[in-house]
Amino acid sequence: MDDKQLISLNWKFKEGFEESYIINSNYGDFESIHLPHNVKTIPYNYFSDCDMLGEYTYVKELKIGQEAEGKRIILEFEGVMTYFDLYVNGNKVGSHKGGYTKALMDITKEVKFGQVNTVVMMVDTNEREDIPPFGKVIDYMTYGGIYRDVHMHTVNNLYIENVLYKYEVSEDNKIIASPELIIHNHGKACRGAVEIEVKDSEDKVVSTHKCDFAIEEGKDTYKLESYELSDINLWDLETPFLYTVKIILSKNEEITDIHTVRTGFRKIAATAHGFYLNDRKVKIVGLNRHQSFPYVGYAMGNRAQRKDADILKDEIGLNTVRTSHYPQSVHFLDRCDEIGLLVFEEIPGWQYVSKENQEFRRVVLEDVKSMILTDFNHPSIFTWGVRLNESLDDDELYTKTNDLARELDSSRPTSGVRCVENSNLLEDIYTMNDFIHWGDEEVLRDQREITGLPYKVPYMVTEYGGHIYPTKKFDNEHRLIEHCKRHARVQSQMMLRDDIMGAIGWCAFDYNTHRDFGSGDKICYHGVMDMFRIPKFAAHVYGSQVDPAKKIVIEPATYFSRGEKNRGMVMPILIMTNCDYIELVIGDEVRGQFFPSGNYAGLKHAPVIIDIPHGDWGDRWRGGEFVGYIDGKRVGSKEYVADTYVADLKAVIDDRELLNTEVDTTRVTCTFVDQIGNLIPYYNGIIQVETEGDLEVIGPKTISVIGGSIAFWVKTKANLQEGSAKIMVKSLNTEIEDKVFHIKLI
Ligand code: GAL
Repeated sequence: MDDKQLISLNWKFKEGFEESYIINSNYGDFESIHLPHNVKTIPYNYFSDCDMLGEYTYVKELKIGQEAEGKRIILEFEGVMTYFDLYVNGNKVGSHKGGYTKALMDITKEVKFGQVNTVVMMVDTNEREDIPPFGKVIDYMTYGGIYRDVHMHTVNNLYIENVLYKYEVSEDNKIIASPELIIHNHGKACRGAVEIEVKDSEDKVVSTHKCDFAIEEGKDTYKLESYELSDINLWDLETPFLYTVKIILSKNEEITDIHTVRTGFRKIAATAHGFYLNDRKVKIVGLNRHQSFPYVGYAMGNRAQRKDADILKDEIGLNTVRTSHYPQSVHFLDRCDEIGLLVFEEIPGWQYVSKENQEFRRVVLEDVKSMILTDFNHPSIFTWGVRLNESLDDDELYTKTNDLARELDSSRPTSGVRCVENSNLLEDIYTMNDFIHWGDEEVLRDQREITGLPYKVPYMVTEYGGHIYPTKKFDNEHRLIEHCKRHARVQSQMMLRDDIMGAIGWCAFDYNTHRDFGSGDKICYHGVMDMFRIPKFAAHVYGSQVDPAKKIVIEPATYFSRGEKNRGMVMPILIMTNCDYIELVIGDEVRGQFFPSGNYAGLKHAPVIIDIPHGDWGDRWRGGEFVGYIDGKRVGSKEYVADTYVADLKAVIDDRELLNTEVDTTRVTCTFVDQIGNLIPYYNGIIQVETEGDLEVIGPKTISVIGGSIAFWVKTKANLQEGSAKIMVKSLNTEIEDKVFHIKLI
């Protein structure tokens, strides 16, 4: 189904739904919108968690040319929260349950070729009891609307809906491919032929293969004969080699469809003694990611999704992400493939599984199927989570989810996240949210104590931290330091335990939540970054584990000021670094060399803790410098001044070229800094953002920084014009010069 057209632009939208909207309505009082779309723009915090619940109408006028007559028209919805009914030219075509899974709708029967067709959707954003993750409370907002892209496919009557490019890597690294094709045949049974071409990222053909087979009427899955591929470089964390697989389907020597997928080849093994990627033991170091953003919830497109993957891998320094608690955007997963970030993907759910509601249980199985069929070809995905997060045992249902997952994909282990002990192990990996670390001695529980099994099994920790120690970016230094220590302790302990495959912490980014959770303002401050993806100190626990040959990290968890901590002390100071040691210089006095703490033996680069008498209450305060040394050589430093004042507004933009052919976005991060460029954490500055040209600010245009910094996103108006646009950032109430960004629109 390569023949696809993005139809995310120029929709009509209205709150509420009436039968009369289905046929021949006048949509004059509807709002004109583009997708991705959230039914409401919400404040950053303190909104009502019922604000977005209800029924909404979306309309798209689709011109379908006469030349398409005789072909099939299929609409693909990547994500609509939570339920929709689809009508075309007044007639119902279908419906879909579940906001995180893809829906394919064949609308051919209702299409009028050579005319404008009216597509109407009733989108129900209610937290319906028949659709997981709902039924009880849940700790995250699910928002609502058509929040991912929509495509239109125009295909022949014999077409490929999907390809699962299955393969095995043998002992001696030979790749044996056994592709599976999901084919629709709206004609009579026939003989079909496929040609499969595999190309590397430089477009070099590395393999071609041909075969033919009998195709039945209707929809079916065809398991093609196995064949060997040679000259393949394996996908790995540092070298994420990817390949494009093109499948050309013909009947009577005439091509009827072409379908292209991208994949990578790697070996994975989850054992009781660890996780192996291409026969190399890899400790899973990860964080959980919710896919939400300020103001628009889930409705962020390609670029922001991809950027999150980059942030997780490059800025935070992880090798794994868990897509808590649902399948996430294809753009996010694509980027994980490209950069070598392992993914734990799971079905939608939160602590609750309905025993009575058979429809709920049916949707759970649908979700497993949809998740695996949609995301099968992503090499980054190493396990499928087939339990509703933290739900209690339900052997009947979870035997089915496991069986189904294994039937669809025998190459990946299943997981199922729980938070209780002695849960029946139906999965291949026992995955546990281990929140035992409350700041005391106990850091991670023993796997046998949790599993209740007399032998060791593949075991992974899928959450720690989170609500046990919520921490705001602008919290007191004491708390921020303890936040770092807790992440460091768990990671260190995990590294020392041979029987723990890895640990995925709660969580990467702060997120909007329901009234039942968080700090009362509808935010869970559980991230190592805030909702704008600005780091708290704890992010550097992960970042500092990077090889110093790649990047020198010297990140003291301090603002280096007298009186921020109890008893008027700046000490002790925790420094996250990958240097051999840190020298502290106060004024021109060297106060000593300080080495990584022995308390984090599992970490390659344990933090340095400096705890010396310094700065009595009443002394004149002086600035300081933390100098990093490797092999006796100075490699970097971090400096602080004593007399801090607001000197500048540092504004950093992620991208300077944006697409005007879709709603493209980029982020501007604004930080008030002192005279040497350090964040000023307690400055409540206000900034005003203006745009010129085809750009709009997402969310409010006048914003106060939070803990000295904030970010905002801008989006293109998607009116297809090339040209330039401008963003101006003004600091109100200061003399600081405006910051201006010129953006190229293409
Ligand atoms: C877990 C849950 C997460 C989140 C976390 C907060 O129990 O799985 O979704 O709520 O707690 O720490």
